[in-house]
Amino acid sequence: VSKKFNRTRRAPAAAFVLLLAAAPLAGCAEAPFSMLDTAGPGADSIARVWWVMFWGSLAILVLMMALGFMAVFRAPHRRREISGRAFILGGGIAFPFLVLLVLLVYGLRSGQALLPLPTDRDVYRVEVRAHQWWWEVRYPDAPGGPLHTANEIHVPAGRPVDIHLTAADVIHSFWVPRLGGKIDAIPGRTNIIRLEAHAPGVYRGQCAEFCGAQHARMHFSFEAHSADGLNAYLASLADSAVPPGPGAPAFQAHCAACHSVDPREHAGGMAPNLAGLPGRATLGAGTLANGPGALPRWLREHQTLKPGNRMPPHELDDATLDAIAGYLEAGR
Ligand code: CUA
Repeated sequence: VSKKFNRTRRAPAAAFVLLLAAAPLAGCAEAPFSMLDTAGPGADSIARVWWVMFWGSLAILVLMMALGFMAVFRAPHRRREISGRAFILGGGIAFPFLVLLVLLVYGLRSGQALLPLPTDRDVYRVEVRAHQWWWEVRYPDAPGGPLHTANEIHVPAGRPVDIHLTAADVIHSFWVPRLGGKIDAIPGRTNIIRLEAHAPGVYRGQCAEFCGAQHARMHFSFEAHSADGLNAYLASLADSAVPPGPGAPAFQAHCAACHSVDPREHAGGMAPNLAGLPGRATLGAGTLANGPGALPRWLREHQTLKPGNRMPPHELDDATLDAIAGYLEAGR
């Protein structure tokens, strides 16, 4: 009876285990941070390597399981059909050597898709500096002169983009999973990663190297535009201005030592440039969705929302904070 019971229970149990094993894969598809939901040639080549390794390792696992079962269940005289020597030389040395050699060549070739190699194509350039815990963004070739902003990167679609990356304080890592691999941002060094988006869209990026308490709240958006769309964005950024309002003196007194609202001003890169702030999707490098009431809340609660961030805990009264928020929100 117990044998029969076991057999009828085995199939559902096996199905359950398979489902459980597949669950992490299901989570990977069509998620903003999925390197399997690829949107550019760099990510395509990484995903190909991933699938080759997945199916390859599955095939090797099946082979090893078959050998294991053979060792356990085959009659002893039949097990001896394969000599121990053949096992060690073939399975222990030749087979792994071949597999690793093929993988090495294939992996190196695939990695070329991420390198800033010389090309005939017109490469777009963006400079990014990582800070605890935000991203400083500079467009050196913007029409009319370099422009600065923070936490969002706008690029042309269908064209290679070289991100020239460095860091201001500690090591960070720049990663847009749907477009390509990650690369470290290292103080005193410039690393370059080439990314390309097949089509216009907003792709999410995240710091991928632990860089302190707020490492998790170090997002950025990477938006690929049509050529016209990119020009329109850069024109609107160049044109962004904050009209003098009642909050201007408070901003000058309390914020302007670190923050600039002028996209042409680098201002030492101490703190995010706030040019075009009302048009940004998030505040605090992805901490808070931007929208009505978001900026006053950020100004009041930024040390609760993102503890330890470099904007000092200030002791300004609510009226002053609202005046500053109103001043910044009146910009375009
Ligand atoms: Cu910056 Cu993690």
